[in-house]
Amino acid sequence: MTPQPTPADRFTFGLWTVGWTGADPFGTETRAPLDPVEAVHRLSQLGAYGITFHDNDLVPFGATAQERESILASFKGALDETGLKVPMVTTNLFSHPVFKDGGFTSNDRSIRRFALRKVLTNVDLAAELGAETFVMWGGREGAEYDGSKDFAAAFDRMREGVDTVAGYIKEKGYGLRIALEPKPNEPRGDIFLPTVGHALAFISELEHGDIVGLNPETGHEQMAGLNFTHGIAQALWAGKLFHIDLNGQKGIKYDQDLVFGHGDLSSAFFTVDLLENGFPNGGPRYEGPRHFDYKASRTDGYDGVWESARANMAMYLLLKERALAFRADPEVQEALQTAGVVELAEPTLAAGESTADLLADRASFEDFDAVKASERSFAFIRLNQLAMEHLLGARS
Ligand code: GCO
Ligand code: MN
Ligand code: MN
Repeated sequence: MTPQPTPADRFTFGLWTVGWTGADPFGTETRAPLDPVEAVHRLSQLGAYGITFHDNDLVPFGATAQERESILASFKGALDETGLKVPMVTTNLFSHPVFKDGGFTSNDRSIRRFALRKVLTNVDLAAELGAETFVMWGGREGAEYDGSKDFAAAFDRMREGVDTVAGYIKEKGYGLRIALEPKPNEPRGDIFLPTVGHALAFISELEHGDIVGLNPETGHEQMAGLNFTHGIAQALWAGKLFHIDLNGQKGIKYDQDLVFGHGDLSSAFFTVDLLENGFPNGGPRYEGPRHFDYKASRTDGYDGVWESARANMAMYLLLKERALAFRADPEVQEALQTAGVVELAEPTLAAGESTADLLADRASFEDFDAVKASERSFAFIRLNQLAMEHLLGARS
């Protein structure tokens, strides 16, 4: 039985996901444009909690103030009718040719000023719609050629841009936090802040870093050959997992943006295990929306678009069922003990123990039997097989 989502599951979708018309670098659109009002109604019917968007998913670049007002009015009308929320808003600083060398880090100062104005206007809209998170994905912030950028100046400008926006949010008293979205490449040859780790290090250099965190995307870490669950775990541990983009990716390739779980399924299982069960020994939990940032393959018509929206939520709920059963299984609890997963939560030094005490503790070194200790089997394979059996529904 496929579980049915409800708004309580807090599933959200980018307007650009179901609204993607299928144009790629090798071919034109395969689907007609989707009316944002229809997207709101359809997602609501399917059981979603919210919708997110880039400014230009909704209001075309260069629209007049009047056009903007009328588009926003019908969109807000659909939100009111359905009760769908807008928990996150983001800015398109990548489609228009003016951003071909980036927004915040373009070598052209007038373009950087234009980009900042575009973002600040969108921050006002995000606040007006009651969003909690303002995502910044710097898709064009990067380079193809290492000699084309002063990297130190680029990081200075990136910091200036993010701090300016964060300072504005504070000045206005908006209830928004910024979430930076890392990606290693595509559309630029190399993008700044390519991974969760780079972005975390960047945040520690900000003046207003307290309201800046991350929006990691499954496929983006995997495009870099990295482990997404490890990445979000470190972001959570650092108190910086502000938002999440769930999707599917098969290895180190172009950004596939598949349905969640349609890429690396066992990795998706452990992602959901972390999001739903938290760390095995407690610790910070992710409480935000479960946001899908994927693309319905261009082979499919609108039947496939709505099927894929359903599929993302179904995959998440199925994995949630399996992850809950995994943790509740007494054999798994026992295997976690044997594996030392519980023991890892115990501090290495005793309470109040100094380095001098440690140095004086002969049992920890002089009398420590390394050979005997190396004979311990952690039995990680058994633990992982239990996880796979739960994932495959062989245990309940
Ligand atoms: C991608 C990105 C984008 C960003 C989005 C938010 O697939 O490369 O996911 O979709 O998430 O633009 O700004
Ligand atoms: Mn992506
Ligand atoms: Mn994304």
